[in-house]
Amino acid sequence: MSKFFTASIGRKLIMSLTGLFLVMFIAVHMTVNLFLIFDDSGELFNRAAHFMATNPAVKIMEPILGLGFLIHILWSFLLEYENWRARPVKYDKKNPEVASSWTSRNMLVLGALILVFLVVHIIQFFWVIKFNPESMKSVVIQGVQMEDTYLLVSDLFKRSVVYDIFYVIGGILLGFHLSHGFWSGFHTLGLSNKNWMSRLQIISRVYAIIIAVGFSVIPLYFLIKF
Ligand code: HEM
Repeated sequence: MSKFFTASIGRKLIMSLTGLFLVMFIAVHMTVNLFLIFDDSGELFNRAAHFMATNPAVKIMEPILGLGFLIHILWSFLLEYENWRARPVKYDKKNPEVASSWTSRNMLVLGALILVFLVVHIIQFFWVIKFNPESMKSVVIQGVQMEDTYLLVSDLFKRSVVYDIFYVIGGILLGFHLSHGFWSGFHTLGLSNKNWMSRLQIISRVYAIIIAVGFSVIPLYFLIKF
């Protein structure tokens, strides 16, 4: 077994482990975000955001999450570069068995677009909450003073159609990325035999649709209702 092969498998393993870790984060993140549309007073979302901001376990997870994103992104470029160098003729389009789906061939492009979304998104919310909380209004809920994160998010979605569309596109891109990434991650880990392969692909698609719809519905709710 050549050194390159071992290294390449190792890198793919890192991609799948970090990817599956991000899959879990995204499910939690979407669930918490959906509180935005289930309570127009903002109390539910603010309490959840306050819990996430102050809970010690979540605080420990935050840098791990950042590292997970960073490694996943850097490794994807490295892996793509290696694939490109090792395989000058990329895909055998004449042979349908070897040919792959559009999503799987465009994981890097999809990932790069999600990265653009993520940078804007982090600046809009995370950065303000962490490093400029003075610019936010505060609320008192059940005797506890906290930042009005609901106002920060809902205000953006209420006043900007451009950002509403931007967030819908972000959710859809993420859905496409996950529809391949989810099952591919399990496949790389060797957790899919012939029977499970097709099941995982179905679960992957269902998960991707839930995520794309779940994220997109939030800006659309504020756009349509307010
Ligand atoms: C409707 C869509 C979304 C809304 C309303 C939303 C809302 C938020 C808010 C309020 C924060 C700051 C949380 C805090 O620091 O207390 C945040 C952080 C973050 N979001 Fe989103 N988000 C959305 C979509 C996404 C998507 C699609 C991704 C993944 C590609 C994502 C990834 C992140 C990351 C990595 C952070 C920083 C870590 C964290 O604070 O948990 N978000 N988001």
